Amino acid sequence: MSGEVRVLVPAKINLFLGVGPCRADGFHELRTVYSAIDLCDQVTATTGADGVHLAITGEGADDLPLDQGNLAVRAALALAGHVGIQPAVGLSLAKRIPVAGGLAGGSADAAAALVACDALWGTALPIPVLAEIAATLGSDVAFPLYGGTALGTGRGEVIEPLKDRERRRHWVVAASHGGLSTPAVYAEIDRLRAVGLVPAPTLDTSELIAALDQDDPAVLAAALHNDLQPAALSLRPVLRDTLAAGIAAGALAAMVSGSGPTCLFLVDGAESATRVARAVESAPDCRAALTTVGPVPGARVQSGGNAGDQMMAKG
Ligand code: C5P
Repeated sequence: MSGEVRVLVPAKINLFLGVGPCRADGFHELRTVYSAIDLCDQVTATTGADGVHLAITGEGADDLPLDQGNLAVRAALALAGHVGIQPAVGLSLAKRIPVAGGLAGGSADAAAALVACDALWGTALPIPVLAEIAATLGSDVAFPLYGGTALGTGRGEVIEPLKDRERRRHWVVAASHGGLSTPAVYAEIDRLRAVGLVPAPTLDTSELIAALDQDDPAVLAAALHNDLQPAALSLRPVLRDTLAAGIAAGALAAMVSGSGPTCLFLVDGAESATRVARAVESAPDCRAALTTVGPVPGARVQSGGNAGDQMMAKG
């Protein structure tokens, strides 16, 4: 077994995010279509350490905890607990996914830590078992194990890959100067619904799933939906300017990503992506705009593990 395993893991976007009522456990019942985009963090796991040690470089590194407050550390401990071994790993995390952005960056890092430690420790658990451990860590941790495009139900942790719908789309991702707390955004949608300011939940994914089959990105643009968008805009109204800047520059659709504040733009090719990204960067709340594509595979071993098997497993 190699003493070092490197794993690349993608950010997620929600092509469709339907949010039902709040359940007794405090989570909302979701019906969502996830897509993995080519904006990736990298986790390197090395042997030799006692316990779980984490180091972080890159995007937002100074703002992140290095102890059990970090989902990647909790993921390594949870895997060790599941298989009944003493955890011994150094995790080195190179971040590109914006922190607290609605792109599930922390969840992606946890998924990558699961895959990396699984390969490093030779535990070789199948993806569905890793996904069960992932579900104990957070609602969005299971999806990056699969990647591609997938239906998410439950609180988002029940994943059903939509395998035949892998048309590549071009996106612009606009990071915000601020962050939004996920619980605060969910609480805000409950409040807006209670006072009748937003319509009832939209939970029918059929139009979106049909649109995935179409070559024309304008068809997909018309079907994109995010029930949390009114809540994110209510808490951070300046995001309206970011969305409007993208539409003015020719984006086919503009929407808040997940619980925000990152904004997403579907565009009809690489040239349009560059033009929209430049325009969006001039909006007051936009910290940086990146061009990317999706879907891409889920968390995958790049080196040090059995990379071929991982790539095939993720299909
Ligand atoms: O599962 P995760 O830790 O990502 O969730 C963070 C918070 O987001 C939860 O504590 C809850 O307030 C909110 N949430 C929710 N319904 C979901 C997912 C998350 O209310 N389906």
